[in-house]
Amino acid sequence: MISQTLIERLTNARLVTVFTGAGVSAESGVATFRAQGGLWSKFKPEELANLDAFLANPQMVWEWYQARREVVLNAEPNEGHRAIASLEEFVPHVSVVTQNIDGLHTEAGSSEVIELHGNIRKNFCQNCGKRHDNLEILTEHHIPSCSCGGNIRPDVVWFGELLPATAIELAEKRAKECNILFSVGTSSVVWPAAGLPLLALDSGAYVVEINPEQTPLTRHAHESIRATSGEVMPEITRLLREMRIPSELSK
Ligand code: OAD
Repeated sequence: MISQTLIERLTNARLVTVFTGAGVSAESGVATFRAQGGLWSKFKPEELANLDAFLANPQMVWEWYQARREVVLNAEPNEGHRAIASLEEFVPHVSVVTQNIDGLHTEAGSSEVIELHGNIRKNFCQNCGKRHDNLEILTEHHIPSCSCGGNIRPDVVWFGELLPATAIELAEKRAKECNILFSVGTSSVVWPAAGLPLLALDSGAYVVEINPEQTPLTRHAHESIRATSGEVMPEITRLLREMRIPSELSK
């Protein structure tokens, strides 16, 4: 399942970028978006995940995000998240660029996590922009107001909104300068995020996709591994650990 080429490249890599999507959190019990039974097959994003919906019906949108928060706050990082974090034992710099809003990469111990679509655990005022990241708001069922009277919203990127500039700029930099880019658990259809693996390819990186299904990236990637993140990522770190043992014994 995992090529010798990949393991050798990993042992020589200076910077590895791990680009992730909802599939990485599927094994933690957090629903993906586009699968049968996924979030966007049950709810219309245009009714819930955009500013007009929030302005028209803030309470309904808040409640939907509160239900998702409940799932996220009860979820734990899985073997895939943990193996991505432990790549740092083998590679000098590992950058995680994620479309996920659940914070599970940080919880798993990854040091550099670039969140392209925000973080559902955080909030800000739609009116004045003041941050409201206190935990009590996470369990508030009635939409809370800011001291300015504005409605507080989750700090997530909605359809039609721009990605946070510092996040996308740093993500593009990491895509351009990495030796290897993993694209894990994403359908590769939501732009501009989906452009990152292509940017890495153009810049000469070795691109490896991990996904049980084919995606638009599959035919461009150097390798596409048809299995789950929780299966593949721990196997990669196991093989890297095995490679390291002989040199440690010889010390
Ligand atoms: P999707 O739901 O579009 O795609 C999830 C991908 O993960 C699919 O390609 C699955 O085949 C794959 N998958 C499922 N289980 C997996 C597993 N255990 N291991 C590896 N892969 C697995 O989710 P995203 O690509 O993340 O944006 O969606 C991108 C964006 O669309 C989201 O960030 C969200 C959504 O609208 C916003 O809300 C702005």
